[in-house]
Order: sequence, then structure tokens, then C-alpha cells
Amino acid sequence: MAIKGTLKLPGDKSISHRALMFAALADGESRISDLSTGTDVHSTRKCLEACGIDIRDDGDDAIVKGSLFSNPAEPLDCGNSGTTIRLLLGLLAGQGINATFIGDESLSARPMNRILDPLSQMGLKCENNDGKLPVTIYQSNLNSIEYDSPIASAQVKSAILLAGLGASGVTTVIEPALSRDHTEKMLQGLGAEFSFNGLTATVSPLISPLESFKLSVPGDSSTGAFFAAAAAMIPGSSIIIDRILWNPTRIGFYSTLYQMGAGVDCLDQWDEAGERIGKLNVFYQSLKGVHITKEDIPGLIDELPIIAILATQAEGKTEVSGAGELRVKECDRIHAICSNLERMGADIEESQDGFIIHGPKQLNGAEIETFHDHRIAMAFTIAGLVANGDVMLDYPECASISFPEFYNELERLKQ
Ligand code: S3P
Repeated sequence: MAIKGTLKLPGDKSISHRALMFAALADGESRISDLSTGTDVHSTRKCLEACGIDIRDDGDDAIVKGSLFSNPAEPLDCGNSGTTIRLLLGLLAGQGINATFIGDESLSARPMNRILDPLSQMGLKCENNDGKLPVTIYQSNLNSIEYDSPIASAQVKSAILLAGLGASGVTTVIEPALSRDHTEKMLQGLGAEFSFNGLTATVSPLISPLESFKLSVPGDSSTGAFFAAAAAMIPGSSIIIDRILWNPTRIGFYSTLYQMGAGVDCLDQWDEAGERIGKLNVFYQSLKGVHITKEDIPGLIDELPIIAILATQAEGKTEVSGAGELRVKECDRIHAICSNLERMGADIEESQDGFIIHGPKQLNGAEIETFHDHRIAMAFTIAGLVANGDVMLDYPECASISFPEFYNELERLKQ
């Protein structure tokens, strides 16, 4: 069996969340094509609708009518989605909304103080459960802030900048390393008074609505990584990934894959709506281990589970360090990667902020605990393609958080 053909990717999840939110702040109707079909983005849509934003479907497009936000009658259910809650906390705080936020078991265990601390410094009145959900925010007059963020997190950066749209003066966020920069690119493109330079982003209060827009969301580079990894590990494989988001802050995985020895050719690249988009060919070539350190992490944070799978098939040592953030994702991903790979017979050693893998090693089938984490489910499904024996996931359905069509698409590309 090999992986061959042209991959059909869903719209990028990070850009889809932002497109819905920024369309809600715009003057008139915006049309968004190729939105992510995952349940996370659906959570964002439901929350916006609960705040009085009108969103309707027109064929496969979503039409969003920008307007003032209203207080939701019920708690906003953010489901499994960290991006939904963290960005909406900032956005709704800036719009003077009273709201309670809830989420599923995984989201309820994740830290929210990284957002609530800076928003409180801006003057937000809120209640929370020791830095976790449920969180209730109350209408407050926000001051501007210059925030030196201790973590390179696009969710933290975006939440503060979105709150800054409704604050009294100029708000600045300085990051320790550059995280994904879609918020900056989109806000600037839609007419906000915005500047960003290296690790510093600055926004002024919004005095008139953003410009309405038409956007076709580029393909999700994080979802593409699972298929690219399969093509890179299985002899005879070669796939084309067209219209993939090729933003420099999002392609650390593809540079790493290339460094590991896989065939990664960027056949074409162009700009659309301020974002770089590419057409890729990824193909099998024998792999070698790689060293990933703290500076590399923001550019490939969501791809570390699939990098671990690749490392088991690569010659030599792969070491990942400085990735402590993985412990507070949809699950403790360091534990999920190490415990499941151990069960499959990999040579893996867990550390506080990463792991060390020695390869290549023949993986065996095993029962996999997904912890209801979509990226763990997808990574171990790909591991199953190179294993001796069956990989059985305890909850394969969780892939639909980002890509409901994942298993069908993988079957389609198997030859
Ligand atoms: C995201 C930012 C990242 C990433 C998440 C999506 C975003 O989280 O892991 O999947 O869209 O802003 P952090 O900001 O916590 O690193």
C-alpha cells in the first residue's frame, strides 16, 4: 500500500475562527468560502450567533452580517476549542459584553489565567474557577496595556489585541518568539489601525467597523501534516497538496520533514488576502532523526504528535525539547505520545518538556488511548499504516474536531 493522489484539505482552522470573528466586526455582509468543517469552528459560529450575529449558509459558503454584539442569554459553549474561548474572551471583553463561558471536560481543565491575567490588568471584571472554566466576564471599561507575554502563544496575543479594539488607547503585545500571525495580517488587511514588527504588535481602538470581505480560506497546513507524514514514511508514496496555507509561522513541520530527508517540493506559491499559499508535492525518501529545540516549537507546536510518529521510522535519534506547552493542549500530549508509542513498541523516553526517540523501529498494533484529542487520533491512525497488526483507537470520532472527513480522505488516497 502507498499514499497517492491529490489531497483535499479542509480550510485552515486558525484562519476560519478569525474569519468568522472579524466578519462579525465588519460593516455589512462578508462571504467566507472553504471554512473549516471541524466542530471547533462550529463552536465559534454558535457562540457568535448566541451573541446576536447573523450567520447563514449559501451553498458551501458562510455569509456573516456584521453588527453590534448582544449579551448571550445562555452560557457560551466553546466545546473542545481553546481558540474559540481564548479569542472570544478578548473580543467580547472589548465589546462590553456580559457572558459566561463553558466547555467540555478537556477545555474545562485547560489554563485560562494566561488570558484572564492580562485582561484583568486592562480592567476586565470577571469570575473564574481558579483560572479555569467556567469563566464569567462583566461589561468593563478597558484600559490599553503594553503586555510582555511570557509565552509565545497566538491565542494569548490575539485575545489581548482583540480586547484592545475596545480599549481606551493603544494596546501592545510583545512575544518571546513569533507565534502564528493571522490575527495581525487579517486585522491590518481589514482596515484596523494596526502595526506589527518582529515580536511586537500594536493596535488602536476601533472607531468604525472593519471592512467586509470575501475570503476563500486556504487549506489547513496542520491537517496536511498527517497526510504528508504518511506519504513520507510509506515507500512508493507521493501526494500533491494544493492550496495549502504556506504562512512562514505555520510551516515548521514541512521544513522539519525536509530536514529529515523526505521529498518536499514546493511546486508553486502565491499570495491571497495577505496570506501565502502553496502547492506541494510530498514523497517517500528514507528518513533520519532530527533535533527540535525551544525556538522551533511555535512553528510546529500542533504537529509534534505526528513528528513523533515519523521519528520512530527515522534512522538515529530525534530529540524534542522546550515543548512544555504540549502538556496543556487538548490533552497532555507528551504523555499521550509517549504512553501510546511505548505500547506500540517504540524506543521513546519522556522528559518534562519533550521526548527522545531512537529509530527506526518496527511498530506493532496496539490499543490507543486518544484522550479524545483529535491530533492524537489522527497521528496514531497514521502510525497504524506502518505497524504490524491493528491499531485500535478508543475514540476515533474525535478527529472531527478539526477534520470530520479525515478517515474517508485517507482511504481515498490509499493505493
Ligand atoms: C492557535 C494557536 C496555538 C495552536 C492552536 C491554534 C490559534 O495555540 O496550538 O491549535 O489559532 O491561535 P497557543 O496559542 O496556545 O500556542
